[in-house]
Amino acid sequence: MQLKEKIPVNIYRPKEPLISKCLTNEELVQAGGEGSVRHITFDLEGSNFHYLEGQSLGIIPEGTDENGRPHKLRLYSIASTRHGDQGDDQTVSLCVRQLEYDHPETGERVYGVCSSYLNQLQPGAPVKITGPVGKEMLLPDDPEANVIMIATGTGIAPFRAYLWRLFQETHPDYQFQGKAWLFFGVPYTANILYKDQLEALAAQFPDQFQLTYAISREQKNAQGGKMYIQHRIAEQVDVLWELIQQEKTHTYICGLKGMEGGIDEGMSLAAQQHGIDWMQYRKDLKKADRWHVETY
Ligand code: FAD
Ligand code: A2P
Repeated sequence: MQLKEKIPVNIYRPKEPLISKCLTNEELVQAGGEGSVRHITFDLEGSNFHYLEGQSLGIIPEGTDENGRPHKLRLYSIASTRHGDQGDDQTVSLCVRQLEYDHPETGERVYGVCSSYLNQLQPGAPVKITGPVGKEMLLPDDPEANVIMIATGTGIAPFRAYLWRLFQETHPDYQFQGKAWLFFGVPYTANILYKDQLEALAAQFPDQFQLTYAISREQKNAQGGKMYIQHRIAEQVDVLWELIQQEKTHTYICGLKGMEGGIDEGMSLAAQQHGIDWMQYRKDLKKADRWHVETY
């Protein structure tokens, strides 16, 4: 793991945020998919903002809340490597789903404040950024580590950063030698965020990178219900169990809070077969800094 003193945190605080600028804002959901998810890039030139893969940043949306106070910040996982999408250390990227739901009482369509603000942000517009924050989702320093990633929806954000660092970039002091396995849950094929890039990596690194989708509204699980990532985990549980037991293996979970229970159920089944209590085992993995969860 990164040495604690090297981890950048709270370089910019809410009282004095970085005034950055939106550089690009692109739709990631293809035609026929559900909702809107944007890949958004921000300018860091001339600032002191720097970060590591797996950290998050805060966005303070424009405007005021119903009490006339400035909006509070919202956190977003960083979707780029520390070097940014252009590799020049001058940008940071996010992957943001616009929150929309029907109000439980009025039935009215409600749109989230910050995610709608980001969704509609035009290139060139100023943006208030805080952070970076987070030490839970950092990658191990060991280039021989194995990295299991389990994501739903925008939970892909930190894993995009990992995969770019593991396979896409070259570094004089870090060349990934381990295995990487991404389980990615989305509603429709059109919702597979970064699909072409993920599939290109899987094709280029077949011995090191495995890509497993769970497409909930198109695929069925063995019981005939929706295919969720926990069902893919259940299908692969023997191989996964063997991998998780290796000391060099780190497991990362990011996305919907609701997915944690299903993952525990799947892992419990495997653990039971080996006479192991999964919840205790998970605690031990956590203590060893090999089980990382960021759900929201
Ligand atoms: P708000 O206007 O704040 O509305 C949210 C509120 O709406 C909820 O608190 C709840 O009261 C209500 N609500 C929401 N859904 C429903 C519903 N179905 N029915 C009734 N009420 C409802 N988001 C991303 O898109 N990408 C990321 O990478 C990402 N990373 C995150 C990382 C961390 C560590 C955390 C904590 C959160 C992350 N989020 C991410 C979520 C993000 O911070 C915001 O919560 C999200 O964008 C919604 O903010 P908003 O301002 O649009 O919604
Ligand atoms: P569904 O919405 O069909 O029930 P997105 O953020 O793009 O909506 O993707 C989230 C994905 O996670 C969807 O496929 C969604 O399925 C799925 N999902 C919803 N609830 C759970 C859960 N409890 N465990 C695992 N996956 C879930």
